[in-house]
Amino acid sequence: MRTIQLSTAVVALVCYQAVSSSVVPPPTGPYHVGFQKHVVPVLNEADPFWLNNISTSFLVTVYYPTNQEPEPHDWTRPYLDPATAALYEVRYNLSAGSLSALPSPGLVPEAKPLGRHHHSTLFFSPGGGGPPTEVYTLLLSDLASHGYAVLALDHAHEQPFVRYPNGTGIYGLPILYGFDEPTVLAIQSTRVNDSLALLDYLPALEAKTGLGLSQTHIGIFGHSLGGSSAAATLLAEQQRRRSDESKRTVPSSFRAGMNIDGTFFGPLADVRQPFLMLGAEAHGTSPDPADSDATWPAFASLQKTAPYWRWINIRGALHHDFSDIGYWKQVVPAIRDGDSQLGSIGGDRLVEVWRAYVRSWFDVALLGRGTDEERALFEEGVDAEWPEKIWVGGKEPYR
Ligand SMILES: *[C@@H]1O[C@H](CO)[C@@H](O)[C@H](O)[C@H]1NC(C)=O
Ligand SMILES: *[C@@H]1O[C@H](CO)[C@@H](O)[C@H](O)[C@H]1NC(C)=O
Ligand SMILES: *[C@@H]1O[C@H](CO)[C@@H](O)[C@H](O)[C@H]1NC(C)=O
Ligand SMILES: *[C@@H]1O[C@H](CO)[C@@H](O)[C@H](O)[C@H]1NC(C)=O
Repeated sequence: MRTIQLSTAVVALVCYQAVSSSVVPPPTGPYHVGFQKHVVPVLNEADPFWLNNISTSFLVTVYYPTNQEPEPHDWTRPYLDPATAALYEVRYNLSAGSLSALPSPGLVPEAKPLGRHHHSTLFFSPGGGGPPTEVYTLLLSDLASHGYAVLALDHAHEQPFVRYPNGTGIYGLPILYGFDEPTVLAIQSTRVNDSLALLDYLPALEAKTGLGLSQTHIGIFGHSLGGSSAAATLLAEQQRRRSDESKRTVPSSFRAGMNIDGTFFGPLADVRQPFLMLGAEAHGTSPDPADSDATWPAFASLQKTAPYWRWINIRGALHHDFSDIGYWKQVVPAIRDGDSQLGSIGGDRLVEVWRAYVRSWFDVALLGRGTDEERALFEEGVDAEWPEKIWVGGKEPYR
């Protein structure tokens, strides 16, 4: 039965493709979206997954605004790397092609930068052990279409599959890997080190690409362990500035942060920057202590000098909804049946809500230019237009 439904879904997909440009929701902003990949040097000497525990590079995919129109093949090329698509097809027991046939939402590889523009920069870190950042394309490309340059970090040998710009593909941990806490902390430590290395590498990356990456207005966010790592990076960067004479007087380039549905690991502290905790339906609020995350209220209670912070949960969303998998479940219903971490919110709506919250937060907290509608997403109380919003807590208005 499942096989029949699936092949129907694939046939429907192919027909739809012929009439519409893409079944994958394209970016909503005023710009087209380009992307490029870069290998960035780093030195991690306690990396659990690299040979001799030494990692020397990580991968950055940059999504950026462009005026270059997508070509017809930019709407038909698969949006996922075939190796990544195949891994998730096996994970969800799908027939080959169910995910690898999904077309790109019109992204333009190596597109011409806008030039003479400065784009606020966002660092994005994915979930621990994956998915790789290409499985967050629906969110990251949308941010770029609204003017942000998004730098998405992938760590080879940890993410299930990563492809370097020279074509070399590296398989990492199995999708359903069982982590222990020391491993989780080691992964977080590589993410922090990689993010600080990327901060230092930004001038070189800008010189190499001319993308107009802001070096002074940077937001940092991530999903799951990537979200915890975003908070840990804010702390590590402050510590580094305090201990390094040459950096002591320089204000932080990180101006806002966000953790999407990730339990916090490592020491909790005041991150001193506007911070959003965006959670699944009952994150940190479940009456069942076995099912609750005590690190969320603990983190919130420590944000004393942060100018403001918010904790918003999304009704109907579960942990894996905050990735493109939350959309795939609508195209390939067997995915929903095969993953208890996907909630009742529909794929199209999930994409709308997820995009709106992340973009609005950085518009407000990083750029200080949020519209009234964007600010309303973070205000206490119910919102008829956003019935998914569950206000859990927050401090102070925006300024
Ligand atoms: C990250 O850098 C710190 C400081 O150099 C180092 O102590 C730590 O081992 C590094 N983390 C990993 C996972 O290698
Ligand atoms: C690498 O790290 C892992 C996990 O931290 C550890 O078990 C292993 O012994 C290390 N291997 C080497 C060669 O250092
Ligand atoms: C995977 O799909 C095959 C063919 O549809 C089916 O026979 C098998 O039971 C499925 N396995 C799981 C774990 O769902
Ligand atoms: C491809 O790039 C990676 C990362 O820089 C490097 O480790 C690898 O050796 C390269 N592969 C080839 C075949 O050049």
